[in-house]
Amino acid sequence: MAKRKLKKKVYSIGIFILILLLVGGYFGMKYYQEYKYKQTYEYKLTEHGYTLEEAKKLVDFYKEDTDFENLLTIEKNSYILELIQEKYYINKNLSRYLDYANKNKDKSVKDVVAVVNVNCDYKYYEHDIPTDTSLGILINVNKYYTLPEDFEPIEIEDISIRYSYDGNRISKEANDAYVSMWNAANEAGFTLIVNSSYRDYQEQEDVYSSKKASLGQKEADKVAARPGHSEHQTGLSIDVFEKGNQSTATFKDSPAYTWLKENAYQYGFIERYPEDKEYLTGYSAEAWHWRYVGEEVARRMHNEGITFDEYYAYYIENQA
Ligand code: DAL
Ligand code: ZN
Repeated sequence: MAKRKLKKKVYSIGIFILILLLVGGYFGMKYYQEYKYKQTYEYKLTEHGYTLEEAKKLVDFYKEDTDFENLLTIEKNSYILELIQEKYYINKNLSRYLDYANKNKDKSVKDVVAVVNVNCDYKYYEHDIPTDTSLGILINVNKYYTLPEDFEPIEIEDISIRYSYDGNRISKEANDAYVSMWNAANEAGFTLIVNSSYRDYQEQEDVYSSKKASLGQKEADKVAARPGHSEHQTGLSIDVFEKGNQSTATFKDSPAYTWLKENAYQYGFIERYPEDKEYLTGYSAEAWHWRYVGEEVARRMHNEGITFDEYYAYYIENQA
């Protein structure tokens, strides 16, 4: 009898211990899961003020710990969710996007990204960056990226007077591409002609000074680059017109210009200062100024409808 009672007692204690273990295990696990969740960026971002949905989106987008650490140092801002949806979003520019957007509330998110990517949140000529001259046909020169005074283009050669006014020179690769483009344009019924091409630092100085003298600095800066800032010094740019129509005022309305817009990319040339992009290039539209970047890049720019400054920021500098 006593033995049976003992057995029952042992049995009850066993059950009790088992229940204790199960309950303890359950709560232990729950506590552990909660502890682990609190270590995640999703949790930290919600604690920082983001909704769970926003936090999930940020976690899906950002990859590096440093990205999250950075987000957690910036005051909660749902505008970031809009920025990261932009195709050309560049992470290192995040705080500049926020600053610029804050000061320019009328700008679209797309424009905020584009303007900051091409450095236009800085004043022209107050943020000089020595350009990477090792990039060959992809050298970028503008109101921020500068060429050294003694920079000389690679394999510079004369453009034949069949295709150009006398005395014009560009890099060999660009020259070959221009001749192919000239022939195609000619077959389509247009006789292209180059009236300006490579200009060294001193020549650019002369061009700029003369514009400044006639127009004043503000207007001169819209139409001519200051020395060291001109793409003409790369030996990859041409000012091209149609024989018989060399008017900067009317070339944009000519069928030859329409032909160039539709076809030049196939020969590696891009329109460097398009209309409606003045706020990104810093120059009034120049229908005649074409820049050689090679066929692959020209095609991509044509398809995506972006300027070389935007291309450079996103596809070259950002991915270097
Ligand atoms: N006209 C272009 C912007 C130059 O001077 O380089
Ligand atoms: Zn030009």
